[in-house]
Amino acid sequence: MPDAGEDPGSDGASPPDPATTRDALAARRGLDAPVYAPAEDSGLLAEAAVEHARGVTLEVGTGSGWVAERVLTEGDADRVIGSDVNPHACRRARDRGVEAVRGDLLGSFGDGSLDTVLFNPPYLPTDPDNEWDDWQEVALSGGESGRELIEPFLDDLPRALATDGVALLLVSSLTGFADVVEYAVDRGLHAETVAEESYPFESLSILALRHRLSKE
Ligand SMILES: C[S@@+](CC[C@H](N)C(=O)[O-])C[C@H]1O[C@@H](n2cnc3c(N)ncnc32)[C@H](O)[C@@H]1O
Repeated sequence: MPDAGEDPGSDGASPPDPATTRDALAARRGLDAPVYAPAEDSGLLAEAAVEHARGVTLEVGTGSGWVAERVLTEGDADRVIGSDVNPHACRRARDRGVEAVRGDLLGSFGDGSLDTVLFNPPYLPTDPDNEWDDWQEVALSGGESGRELIEPFLDDLPRALATDGVALLLVSSLTGFADVVEYAVDRGLHAETVAEESYPFESLSILALRHRLSKE
């Protein structure tokens, strides 16, 4: 999550390690900033989402609602919903005109109900002794592996995703790209990279995940 402040399209640089990245973000945004401000990761997801989103589209962890709003105004989805565990985020997204619900990952959504799922997850690997216990941590920390939210998301995705649906998942090199792909494939998903950006200290990819056909 390289920081571009309020301009997700600018060419921001990241500090060298996840802990420093997190501290720098906190210093710039205020430790108690209750909602994640869009950055380059949000911009990369939004570009891919505008191109791929169709039908009923859910942005998990919508934060400020900036990505969902772009899909709503520039994309071809029939309906765009944002969800987040953070009630401040849900309010911020609603202020942008995004339909928002408070919830944990895909738990509030029915089997096969989502044509498109978008997720820019909390992914910074974080030392358990160094957790913050605030909304910034909820937005940034992926636990010790960086995959503590990604894995339960992938566990439940095959249930909630429509048969011909697609999920766009942002994956950082800090999180272990190959580990995420392997985890997804083990859950019966086909994974394809549809966008990539490199920064001095991490690369970001958008993985398009679909149900794997049995003959593949
Ligand atoms: C990296 S931020 C991304 C925000 C926004 N989508 C963007 O790209 O700018 C991750 C978001 O996921 C939310 N989140 C964390 N854990 C969650 C969970 N279990 N279920 C739903 N949302 C969650 C956080 O509150 C935060 O808003």
